[in-house]
Amino acid sequence: MAEEFDIAQGTKAEQYEALLPQLRALVTGEPDLIANMANISAILKTQFDFFWVGFYLVKADELVLGPFHGPVACTRIVKGKGVCGTAWERAEVLVVPDVNTFPGHIACNALSKSEIVIPVMKHGDVIAVLDVDSEYLDHFDETDVEYLTKVAELVAR
Ligand code: SME
Repeated sequence: MAEEFDIAQGTKAEQYEALLPQLRALVTGEPDLIANMANISAILKTQFDFFWVGFYLVKADELVLGPFHGPVACTRIVKGKGVCGTAWERAEVLVVPDVNTFPGHIACNALSKSEIVIPVMKHGDVIAVLDVDSEYLDHFDETDVEYLTKVAELVAR
């Protein structure tokens, strides 16, 4: 496995397109979930300089912080709470253009303004969520939904 990673240029979609094969190559042959989550977080942070990007893992009735890049974050999130806990409970992608308008949003860091959370599914169950935060309002769109969903699929193949 190459430890190198090429920063992609172009539109956001082009950047994701360039990134996906590299991510796929990275996780191919590596069965360890935490190792793959760690490298995926690193690549997304390096490419897009997101404010915070990382994973929470489903453990019993809570989400527990997993590999991430960014400022220190909340360690545990109850099912149904915050953006992450809600995405887990509903097993659906949530895009929040302004976190201050999301009821129950958990503010791990006051600088975070918008957020996207993608459930990581395995055999029909949510086993984790991929959470990306931005310091800009309304930062995430359908392109992020499309490609980050593909990234989440790579995690738990
Ligand atoms: N804002 C999230 C909590 C996790 S952090 O953003 C890293 C939420 O409301 O679930």
